[in-house]
Amino acid sequence: MRTREVKAVSVREIERAVVILRGGGLVAFPTETVYGLGADALNPAAVKKIFAAKGRPESHPVIVHLADASQLARWARGIPKAALRLADVFWPGPLTLILRRAEKVPDAVTGGQDTVGLRVPAHPVAHTLLQAFGSGIAAPSANRFGRLSPTTADHVRGELGERVDMILDGGPCALGLESTIVDLSGSHPALLRPGKISVSELKKVLKTPLVLPGPTSPRAPGTMTVHYAPLTPLRLISGKALAEAAHELGSLGKRAAILTYRHAPLGGANVTWIAAPAQATAYARALYSNLRRLDQKRVDVILVEEVPPGEEWDAVRDRLEKAASPKERS
Ligand code: TXA
Ligand code: MG
Repeated sequence: MRTREVKAVSVREIERAVVILRGGGLVAFPTETVYGLGADALNPAAVKKIFAAKGRPESHPVIVHLADASQLARWARGIPKAALRLADVFWPGPLTLILRRAEKVPDAVTGGQDTVGLRVPAHPVAHTLLQAFGSGIAAPSANRFGRLSPTTADHVRGELGERVDMILDGGPCALGLESTIVDLSGSHPALLRPGKISVSELKKVLKTPLVLPGPTSPRAPGTMTVHYAPLTPLRLISGKALAEAAHELGSLGKRAAILTYRHAPLGGANVTWIAAPAQATAYARALYSNLRRLDQKRVDVILVEEVPPGEEWDAVRDRLEKAASPKERS
């Protein structure tokens, strides 16, 4: 992880954040994946404020963030060995484990389900905050419901403004995409959301089959296709077809913004473009910022070049497919 971009947050700011959290307020904070919108996980009224600020349905569960893996047993019960192994290898890090919840975990956090999502983030500011707070912080991504997750403090300000009591600015997030989610509450571990930690890495540690989401698998809450979308309609398109699609839009009098990762800039007065990094990690880090920038161009459509095959692109492909899904256009 690139630490040079991590901005320090003062002890005073952490102290103020803890006072706000203890008082039932909302604090946005950086993690290595995206910024989270945090509240005291044991205070249902505070957690409800998260839903109000995001405009998110209350049935959606939120992840509880912990300072370290030793707290796992306080938040979950019947923890399988596989979960302990994953926590041991990948925490702190971009992995969320879905486990059976401990009794104290409020319904407001779990969406009334018997499971809870837990994660130990690998970000010095998140870690310092969690340690100073001394308990779990419930936090979804700090964006309005269905929108792009924020990867800078400015994004959070733009998304939530006065709806959040404090924003801790830790600089841009190193990974830029949300955590990998693995459900360990059922008979087989199941991948609910791809992320930086890949299926191969998980399988190496699990040593049991991992159920992958397929067309027949039940849809987990929050993995709905309405997520991760810019406001401008977005189309995924092969590299070869990009120039022609932009040209066609031009002949219809439409303006296009293009996110490409290998092609030379495309011409045409109707076109504006960003050349994204061709390497998966760097592409992921910049993806949401790039989509936000293209979203602000006030064009008719965002064309995104399809990313290459290969596991290292799985999380990026997943988010792009969700952003392009016709569902969120309605
Ligand atoms: O990287 C991340 O995971 C970021 C940072 C802030 O930690 N958080 C994040 O939270 O992306 P959110 O709420 O935007 O997405 C969490 C996902 C949602 O799809 C939610 O439905 C799922 O986790 N989730 C949380 N608890 C769950 C549970 N008990 N059962 C099933 N899914 C759960
Ligand atoms: Mg989210």
